Amino acid sequence: MRTARKFTAMAAGLAVASLALAACSTGSGSDDETGGTGSGDEVEVFTWWASGSEKLGLDALVGVFETQNPDVAFVNGAVAGGAGSAAKDLLQSRLQANDPPDTFQAHAGAELTDYINAGQVEDVSALYDEFGLRDAFPADLVERLTVDGKIYSIPSNIHRANVVWANTQLLTDSGLDPAATYATLDDWFVALDAVKEKTGRTPLSVATTWTQVNLFETILLSDLGADGYNGLWDGSTDWASPEVTDALADFEKLMSYTNEDRDGLDWPDATQQVIDGNAAFNVMGDWAVAAFEEAGKKAPADYVYMPVPGTDGVFDFLADSFTLPVGAPHPAGAKAWLKTIGSLDGQVAFNKAKGSIPARNDAKPEDFSEYQQSAMTSFGQDTIVSSLAHGAAAPAAWANAISDATSKFTTGGGDLAGFQADLVAAAEANAG
Ligand code: GAL
Repeated sequence: MRTARKFTAMAAGLAVASLALAACSTGSGSDDETGGTGSGDEVEVFTWWASGSEKLGLDALVGVFETQNPDVAFVNGAVAGGAGSAAKDLLQSRLQANDPPDTFQAHAGAELTDYINAGQVEDVSALYDEFGLRDAFPADLVERLTVDGKIYSIPSNIHRANVVWANTQLLTDSGLDPAATYATLDDWFVALDAVKEKTGRTPLSVATTWTQVNLFETILLSDLGADGYNGLWDGSTDWASPEVTDALADFEKLMSYTNEDRDGLDWPDATQQVIDGNAAFNVMGDWAVAAFEEAGKKAPADYVYMPVPGTDGVFDFLADSFTLPVGAPHPAGAKAWLKTIGSLDGQVAFNKAKGSIPARNDAKPEDFSEYQQSAMTSFGQDTIVSSLAHGAAAPAAWANAISDATSKFTTGGGDLAGFQADLVAAAEANAG
């Protein structure tokens, strides 16, 4: 089912001298019959799954971990802030101060490559052999975790970033068919106008900067297509081109439909506006489905979903994965965590709660929600592109520069031409 997928990401970059995984076998424990590492150990797990539906996902994972490793204490190092908006900087200071957690969440692709190139994470290839993971994941996903033949993390899940979520009742009140999908952004603008005129509610909810970047990348994808979007990262699409100008104009127009309090909100607040019927649409990665479920909402009675208009057939991809940092204080605990991450039980429990789909190839679709089954189908047949807002498409320095440019623009710090000039400068400074 997943054989047709085609990753089109940048190739992973520079060679790094990796440190041996030997540390793993010097921990306090040894393997026991539960699949755990023995007694007296602990593991500090650093994520940004600190609250709400994201914490429920982490809790589900911890439940499996604790069953598999009754003697290893789980220490929750989660730092609040969607998409790691606060966690990533804090993590970087800890890594630079040689104070790493035992394992941390990193996105497959450019973001992980940053950590690899900085020599901050260990090669965990030996764990792939030990845990029997060599064939557990799609080969092209493993490629994105690999530099020079060494694999640097174990993926826990796959999320899709180009999804629109909508409130069924509010669409009906706006005279719109909740089952309608919109082929183009222009079609969608008509619907957004209808919400505004008929109900006076917010047509499109959004939150703080990273959610605006999430929206922005899907508009680039919609207007440029998958090849044009990929070209932004490999240099074959010119950031100064008129096609990009048109996409920026569409983004500006979309932002005009959004809530004014956006910069003080994080993603759960913006999605909540749709859950509550205070906003009609929200563009958000599919962790949002877990928020609808947590609120007891059902599709399609309460909410509907569709690809961002103009992006049907394209899966804007990101995957969380877990690392073994260089100098992790509890490598045996980290190894136990990584074993749970890679296990079928861990992936099923976690992804059911998180809204994502398992990275493993062998989970049964029928164990998952209707939305997730549709995501599995799309992932198997769509063109796969890399998410910008979630660390897959561009290294952190470039992604941060785009984020700064976006925030400057959406907070009134310049016009469209200035925005485009900032994006061109970001590409010039950071493209490989
Ligand atoms: C992404 C992450 C997801 C989800 C989301 C919102 O970067 O990969 O798992 O947590 O942020 O916080």
